[in-house]
Amino acid sequence: MRIDIITVLPELLKSPFEASILKRAITAGLVSVHFHNLRDYATGGYKAIDDTQYGGGAGMVMMIEPIDKCISKLQQERDYDEIIYMTPDGERLTQSIANQVSLKGNIMILCGHYKGVDERVREKFITKEISIGDYVLSGGELGAAVLCDAVIRLIPGVLGNETSALTDSFQDGLLAPPIYTKPREYDGMKVPEILFSGNFPEIEKWRETKAYERTKERRPDLLDD
Ligand code: ADE
Repeated sequence: MRIDIITVLPELLKSPFEASILKRAITAGLVSVHFHNLRDYATGGYKAIDDTQYGGGAGMVMMIEPIDKCISKLQQERDYDEIIYMTPDGERLTQSIANQVSLKGNIMILCGHYKGVDERVREKFITKEISIGDYVLSGGELGAAVLCDAVIRLIPGVLGNETSALTDSFQDGLLAPPIYTKPREYDGMKVPEILFSGNFPEIEKWRETKAYERTKERRPDLLDD
């Protein structure tokens, strides 16, 4: 998988890709991530990438021309399966969307800033708009990092244990059950006996029940659909 990220703040985005699982995935060649500074595509003496809104109103709007230049250059080099715009008015990111995106070959991610992009950018290029939640960030970069993390860990070979992504919260529509490790007893708090029974079908049943109970208590909305 190849991910191209278009941003005005590459330095804000880089560190998540320089540590832990994402770094390992890149080093292993399972994914490549490329940053493109929109400022490099700006024209005119001031190298502007934004301007005031037609019709008046507070806040700057990202101009279409530098974005067009950057996206068109990338499109000349390869085909893209998806061009994603990070924005609070996009579709809310879910595990299901992360699963779908993880199956793509080449994707581009455009990070919004200021008031957002000129509407014509969305009409001309964008195939998917994603929000990471119902709150407004100062730019799309942190959202793009969240999306990339959720997607990259699903690529086969990225996680050590192939099954571990499949047992994450949300993969089966439920939250994850409680988990334990050593010591068996800590400060009077004991690990449930069932986990030492060696009866794996019963342990699985116990986990499913706990996952269901936890979901019902914390996120009953997940049980609706
Ligand atoms: N840019 C600003 N807010 C955002 C959000 N909630 N999700 C994705 N991109 C954003």
